[in-house]
Amino acid sequence: MSDLYTPISIESIDPALFPDVALYLKSGTNYVLYKSHGRDFSSVDAERLARGNVEFLHVQPSDMELITTYMESNAERFLKSDQHDNKAKGKMIYQTSINYVGDIFANPDKVGDLERSKRLIENLLLFMADNGEALASLESVMAHNYHTFVHSLQVTALSIMLHSSIYTVSRDEILDVGIGTLLHDIGKIFIPQEILNQTGKLSPTETALFKRHPEEGYRYLKEQASLSEVSLAIVRSHHERNNGNGYPQGLRSEQIPRSAQVAAVCDVYCTLTIDRTGKKCTPASLALQLMKQEMKGAFNERVLNGLEELVGEEAGGPPLL
Ligand SMILES: [Fe+2]
Repeated sequence: MSDLYTPISIESIDPALFPDVALYLKSGTNYVLYKSHGRDFSSVDAERLARGNVEFLHVQPSDMELITTYMESNAERFLKSDQHDNKAKGKMIYQTSINYVGDIFANPDKVGDLERSKRLIENLLLFMADNGEALASLESVMAHNYHTFVHSLQVTALSIMLHSSIYTVSRDEILDVGIGTLLHDIGKIFIPQEILNQTGKLSPTETALFKRHPEEGYRYLKEQASLSEVSLAIVRSHHERNNGNGYPQGLRSEQIPRSAQVAAVCDVYCTLTIDRTGKKCTPASLALQLMKQEMKGAFNERVLNGLEELVGEEAGGPPLL
C-alpha cells in the first residue's frame, strides 16, 4: 500500500488555496500523519519543514483527485509568479504532469478531455521558455519521485526541445508533439501487468503481446479522443525504426512521420540514460554512442545529431538529462 502514496513538493503548496487533504511524512518505509483532514496547512508548517530539510509530504490515493485539480488549476499562476524559483516551478510542472499521466493510465476514459492535456503542455512550454535549464531542473526533482510515469514526462520534455531545435514548427505542432509524447505508451494499459513488470527476458509470445501497445494505444485514442494526426503518429509509430526493423508496421525512414522519429530517439535515449527509479544509468555519451553505432541505421541521422547537440556532448559540456 505504502507505494501508492504520492509525494507532493512542499514548495508547490499554497496555504491559501491548498485543498483539505491529510498529509504524511515519510519516515523510512513508513508514512506518518503530519496533518489530518480539517487542519489547515500554514506557512508556519512550510517554514518548519523547510528548516528540517523536508522537501516532500505525501498524499493518500483517495485524496489524489483533489490534489490533481488543485495542481492543474493553479499551475499557470504558479509558473508566472515571481515568488517561486525555477526549482519550485520545475517541481510543480513535474508533479502536475506525472499526476496527469498517472490519472489517464488509471482512468483511460478521461483522455477525451483535450483541453486538460493542452493546458498541461502549455504550462510545460511556459516553464521551458522561461527556464534555460528546464531539463536539468526537472531532473533535480526526479530522484524524489519513483513513479512509473516519470518516463513519459522525460520523453515529452526532450521531444519538445529536440523537435523545435531541428524543425521550424508552429505552436500547434509543438502542442501536438507534447500531447502525443505524454500519451505515447498509453497502449500499455491493455498489456498484462506481469509482462510490463517482468525484468527478465520475455518469451516470444510475451514479446508479441508487448509489441501490441503502440497499435492498441492508437486504436484507443482514435476512438476516445480527437487527437491530431501528429499526436496519433507518435503513439502508433514510436517503435518504428528507419531500417524497417521496428514495429508495429515495419515502416522505413520517410514513411515514419517526423514526430514519431523524434519520439523514437527520445524514448530510447531516456530509457538508456535514466532507469525506472529516475536515477541515471548509462552516461549520455555512451547512450549516444550506442544509438549511433550499435543501433546504426535505426534512427534518423538529423534527429540523432540534433540530440547530440542538445545534450551537450559535442561541446563537451555536462549532459542536460
Ligand atoms: Fe512504447
